Formats: sequence, structure tokens, C-alpha cells
Amino acid sequence: MVKITETVLRDSHQSLIATRMTTEEMLPILGELDKVGYHSLEAWGGATFDSCLRFLNEDPWERLRRIRAAVKSTKLQMLFRGQNILGYRHYSDDVVEYFVRKSIENGIDILRIFDALNDARNLETAINATKKEKGHVQAAISYTTGPVYTTEYFTNYAKTLEGMGADSICIKDMAGLLKPYDAYELVKALKETVNVPIQLHTHYTSGLASMTLIKAIEAGVDIVDTAISPLAMGTSQPPTEAIVATLAGTEYDTGIDLSALDKITKYFEPLREKYLASGQLDPKMLKVDVNALIYQVPGGMLSNLVSQLKQAGKSDKLSEVLEEVPRVRADAGYPPLVTPSSQIVGTQAVFNVIGGERYKMVTKEFKGLIQGQYGKTPVEIAPEFAKKIIGDAERISYRPADKIPPELDALRAKIPQYIEQDEDVLSYALFEQVALKFFEYRKAKKYGIDPDSDAALGIHKV
Ligand code: CO
Repeated sequence: MVKITETVLRDSHQSLIATRMTTEEMLPILGELDKVGYHSLEAWGGATFDSCLRFLNEDPWERLRRIRAAVKSTKLQMLFRGQNILGYRHYSDDVVEYFVRKSIENGIDILRIFDALNDARNLETAINATKKEKGHVQAAISYTTGPVYTTEYFTNYAKTLEGMGADSICIKDMAGLLKPYDAYELVKALKETVNVPIQLHTHYTSGLASMTLIKAIEAGVDIVDTAISPLAMGTSQPPTEAIVATLAGTEYDTGIDLSALDKITKYFEPLREKYLASGQLDPKMLKVDVNALIYQVPGGMLSNLVSQLKQAGKSDKLSEVLEEVPRVRADAGYPPLVTPSSQIVGTQAVFNVIGGERYKMVTKEFKGLIQGQYGKTPVEIAPEFAKKIIGDAERISYRPADKIPPELDALRAKIPQYIEQDEDVLSYALFEQVALKFFEYRKAKKYGIDPDSDAALGIHKV
């Protein structure tokens, strides 16, 4: 039997409509989603938190509580970026621990925890905190391709994660690079190496994902991620209904009744039309993008390269940049090409090409990557290269968060006038200015002032 994680409440709309689905759009269908018999609903974390505060004027914690209240029996799952939590830098351990605690208290059952460099030290605090709060630790492997990414590399990493306490392991193929027969081999090897369940997360971007799921299922994968069809395919996940129908009556039967999915499909169909009509859903996101297969770079990274070159008036240099990307990546210790390393490597490759000389201009982020600010790269960086990039600056060989002192108390002390609930300090820790703007909006609303008016701007002084 294969189990299904439905991603419509998180990755599916994150991938297709820039994470703009609102809580109000989710609420009417939660009861039906709860009845299907999914293994879990991926419903929180990733970019949803940022998007709630930044674009939707919603409290992400309130969203989680409302989802939890409506979803009574299905497990709720979130995506958690290790020491980065849901933000874009490394946070202190006390912030990570408190975030895990509050996520579980507010309703999360399963935390999918990953690190962009596959540096296990960056998962340690989040894993330990999740165990302490009795949550399910799903440790994720950032999947990528390249000379060092052998089956052995992945099985070694999976073994490390299992040893750290992972209750399950996820192969997280965020760029849709995992091909069906490679998935078969990888899942087989992982099943022989670790004893915990294996889950597969991939994207339809390059047109492979449904085939990849089937080969992974044949190799023994336990759980797969899919999205209900109106918000499936393209940059999202394979369609739930098609996978359920494919497996029905086989030894892999999901136990899910297609007719139970019908109400959900029908609910999201008009929403899809709405997103298309408003331009939120760009039909470009729905086509098969073969570039990932040809260039071995994620689709999102390629479009960034194209737009950076366009801005510099150097659109004709694309093929040179695409040849430079693997060289920069090799110099930088072969980081997986996922956020943020994909942007860091891509931008540096652009600089190397348009600057006329390699590493004449070096970005701050690239220096940080070489210095070790993000953690340890899969392959050791040559000392001569590091010296060329960061000069005599100290290279960081310890876990980056080891040198970050506790932050929570200081953060709380900065915003006493805004705190309405314990969780507010966490929103502020992750997205300072964005959170403050939201707190002001919330306060204005509470005092009956039009939150968009000028009068609302000074409300925090009340
Ligand atoms: Co994803």
C-alpha cells in the first residue's frame, strides 16, 4: 500500500501561484480533505508563512490553528528549512527550538526538515526539538545531480539522518531533476540502507514526475506527494487523482476512493479559473520545461539567469553562462542547486562571464558560501580557491549557528507594544520589517481604523 501526502494547501500553490492561496479559500474544503484518507496534508511552512505576513495580511499562526480546527483526523505536515526555519538566514538555537514547539502546539504533526547543503549539523537542533515535542521528524535529502551525487552519497546521508532520529526520510527533488529509473535505483538503495519509511517529493516541471513516482513506487517507496489536479502539474506535483487511479486494484492501492476526491477536484476547479483570469496563475507555469533535463539546472534558476543577462544587456551570453555554472559549482564544493545556493552559484557565473574575467567581481553571498556561512559543502573547497575569494578571512568549520547567541529575549524586548500572542516574537524573528507592518495592520483593524489609511500608520504609538 502506498500512502499519499496532498500538497494543495502548501507546495502546490507555492509553486503555481507564488503562495497566494488565502485561508478563506482553504477553509470550505478542509472537512472534505480530512475525509479522504490521506497520509497527511502538507499545509504550512515553506513560503506560506512569509506570504501570509507579506502579501495576504494574515497571521500564519492563526491560519494553522484554523486548519487544525477543521482537520480533525488527518496529520498536518509542514516544510522546515533546518536552522533557517522558514526564513533566509541562520537563527539561534533558542529561536529554532521555540519555533518547533509552537508549530507543534498549534497543530503540526510532521515536520519535514531539510538543509540546502545537506549539512546534517544544520538539522540537529530542529530534529532534537521535534523529538522533544513528540512530533514526527521527517528528515529530507535535498536531491540534486552532479559528479558527487552518487547513490552512495545519498544512502550515507540517509543513514546519518536516521542515526540522528529521523522517523522517516524524504527524497526532496525540488527541481524535478529525478528521472524515473534513477528514482527506482535510489529508492531501492535507500530501502536497503535504512529502516524508516521513505517518502518522495518531486515537481512536474520537466514532465517526468508521474513516471518518477511510479518507478519509485515499484522500488518500494512508502509515501508520495501529489496535488489535486486543478493545481497539479507544471511546476507543481503530479495529479492526485491520476496516481490514485493508476494504483487502484494493484498491490500499491492507496485505499483512497476516487469519488471522495471528486468533491475536492470540483472545489478547486473554479479557483484555478479565478487564478488564471487574474493572472496569478501564469499558463507558462503549466508547460513542460525541458531545460532542466538539458542543462541540469532547475527551471527557476534558468529563468533567473535569463533575466539577469537581459538586465545587463548580455542576452547573447546565455550559453557561456550555462557552461560556467558547473565550473563555479565545482569551485564552490558542489552545493545542491537549490535555494539559496542556486541563486548564489548562478549569479556568480553571470558575473564571471560578463565581467570578462573569472571572480574579478565576487558577490557577498558567494564569499559567504566559500567561507562556510551556510554550512559545509558536500565536497571540500580547495584552500587556494578559498584564499582567492575571501582573502585572510577566517573559514568557518563549525556549525554556523554555534556562534549565534540566544536571540529570543532580545527580540521580545524590542516589540512589547505589538505582542498579542507568544508566537508573535517568532514572526518578528523571521521577518522583522514585514512582521512589524503586519502587526500595525492587525492593530489598526482591532481599533476599527481602516488599516490602509494614513491614520493607521502611527497606530503603534497608541
Ligand atoms: Co517542492
